[in-house]
Amino acid sequence: MHIVRSSSIVTASIGLISQSPDHTVRDINQVEQCQRTSVAILGAGVAGITAAQTLSKHSFDDFLIVEYKNEIGGRMTHAEFGVHPDGRPYVVELGANWVQGLGSEGGPENPIWTLAKKWDVKNTYSDFDSLLTYNETGEVDYTNHFAAIDGVYSSAEQTAGTILIENLQDRSARAGFSQAGWKPKKDMAAQAVEWWYWDFESANPPDTSSFVFGIAGYNSTHYQYSDENNFVHDERGFNYWLQGEASTFLRPNDTRLLLDTIVTNITYNDRGVTVYNEDGSCISAEYALCTFSLGVLQNEAVTFEPKLPEWKQTGIETFHMGTYTKIFMQFNETFWDAEKQFFLYADPNKRGYYPIFQSLSHENFMPGSNILFVTVVGDESYRIELQDDETTQAEIMEVLRQMFPDITVPKPSAFMFPRWSLEPWAYGSYSNWPVGTTLEMHQNLRANVDRLWFAGEHTSAAYFGFLQGAYFEGREAGLRIASLLGNECVDQGRCGEHSFYDPLHGTTGREAFNIINGWDADSFATYGLNRE
Ligand SMILES: Cc1cc2nc3c(=O)[nH]c(=O)nc-3n(C[C@H](O)[C@H](O)[C@H](O)COP(=O)(O)OP(=O)(O)OC[C@H]3O[C@@H](n4cnc5c(N)ncnc54)[C@H](O)[C@@H]3O)c2cc1C
Ligand SMILES: *[C@@H]1O[C@H](CO)[C@@H](O)[C@H](O)[C@H]1NC(C)=O
Ligand SMILES: *[C@@H]1O[C@H](CO)[C@@H](O)[C@H](O)[C@H]1NC(C)=O
Ligand SMILES: *[C@@H]1O[C@H](CO)[C@@H](O)[C@H](O)[C@H]1NC(C)=O
Repeated sequence: MHIVRSSSIVTASIGLISQSPDHTVRDINQVEQCQRTSVAILGAGVAGITAAQTLSKHSFDDFLIVEYKNEIGGRMTHAEFGVHPDGRPYVVELGANWVQGLGSEGGPENPIWTLAKKWDVKNTYSDFDSLLTYNETGEVDYTNHFAAIDGVYSSAEQTAGTILIENLQDRSARAGFSQAGWKPKKDMAAQAVEWWYWDFESANPPDTSSFVFGIAGYNSTHYQYSDENNFVHDERGFNYWLQGEASTFLRPNDTRLLLDTIVTNITYNDRGVTVYNEDGSCISAEYALCTFSLGVLQNEAVTFEPKLPEWKQTGIETFHMGTYTKIFMQFNETFWDAEKQFFLYADPNKRGYYPIFQSLSHENFMPGSNILFVTVVGDESYRIELQDDETTQAEIMEVLRQMFPDITVPKPSAFMFPRWSLEPWAYGSYSNWPVGTTLEMHQNLRANVDRLWFAGEHTSAAYFGFLQGAYFEGREAGLRIASLLGNECVDQGRCGEHSFYDPLHGTTGREAFNIINGWDADSFATYGLNRE
């Protein structure tokens, strides 16, 4: 049973589901020392900036954007690294790095691709076939496993489509692929190929990933737009486009953007929201949009008063926050094949142990930079992010010596990695859909509670984990809040409050795969999932 809410029945539905008697909430109107605004937008990442832009486009310019860091961009963030022959440092992306899914002739275009082109952000096709494979004895060709797993995917996605359409029970991606005939078992080369195929994207192993929504999430981006991934390498940073978009509605030093401001408490009810910051300041708003990552919500880095309702907490605790760590190294020479982009390593003992090395020295990216980076995810990220740089570097050197037994691998002259799982404004990298839950549960992660709204990559049903997910959800929340503020629907089908499900029955019928629940109807057909 789902509860559809519209602004006219706010009070009634709140009365039904909320355990928040008004006396536990500070009366918003009595908080006179707080700065007042119509909409408090919490976070200046893709979702927050897109929401603010959407409000602005509909002439709602009374908002405040509150951001922990000292710049716009959120998980699109870069750092200076190493040295260029001309003495300047290079710039590398610590977070989002690819435009994933571009667009095709006559088909829809990924908005991130559109915006990257608009702002001339430098990006180049990333060739996932430009790959050499290694194990502990050096270079070994096990690319035959790629053909095998590709074949399995084609049949697995049909099964996943049937499960979704017929409202059958989900399973782990491990089980789904195993049933389709993919059983890597103790073959470490097959495990490395599987890691590249699955974990590299999900930041989680197939064992803890949803079969149905993992495949849907991949296909909605790569079938709807295109299967191309473009790697961003721009000295101004990937977030340059977002800062550019922000400059279309924010003046320089606009007082509506509060940087270096950490939100600690949020109180809310059906009349408004008050936001308390670490510096003692507060904001009293008619509506607030919280775009903090799932990791921030799970770590209780912010206190909600009253406590979020049970249905919301269940959504927050059930979905997974993955961690994805890029470890950058600059050497005095390019001792690897300068014409290749990727180097896959199968460790004999541990799956996911420094599995993918990627060359930035390649002529398409930062030629002559001698920069190589290795990516780890999940449990390996947690382990490595707790280690000091020296320990991690020593482990990587050991792996590189196995991969290149015939040369003396030099020590890196520069070494750096971000620690996403410990970052207090992110607590992880991006979300992943866990095994055995439903679109209804996801909608609860997404739905507003009274006048407190939520948006971000994690609230996107079809594009979770991607920049486009954060973009669509920021726009959606902006449209809905604009409609409520103006008492007039600004975008058909995207007005009023979000529906939510209480109680959850562990199942979502086919008819509920619609825009109300954040399911992009256009992409449905492209999964090969016929709605008829
Ligand atoms: C390592 C990594 C690799 C990735 N690779 C890709 C990729 O290649 N392609 C792709 O499409 N996507 C990728 N992603 C995902 C992409 O970065 C995210 O989907 C997107 O940036 C999320 O945007 P958002 O607005 O939802 O959240 P965020 O960017 O996290 O924005 C939320 C904002 O809230 C702020 N905030 C948090 N807590 C507080 C607080 N208490 N007070 C005030 N402000 C606070 C944060 O500082 C942040 O700026 C990657 C992410 C990571 C981390
Ligand atoms: C914020 O939350 C903390 C932890 O729950 C609490 O101790 C503190 O009093 C709250 N502060 C405000 C301003 O509500
Ligand atoms: C690594 O490759 C070598 C050469 O093909 C092979 O003999 C060895 O068994 C492989 N190691 C593992 C753990 O499979
Ligand atoms: C890089 O350093 C190694 C020693 O660590 C040395 O053998 C090699 O010649 C150096 N390469 C260049 C191009 O200087």
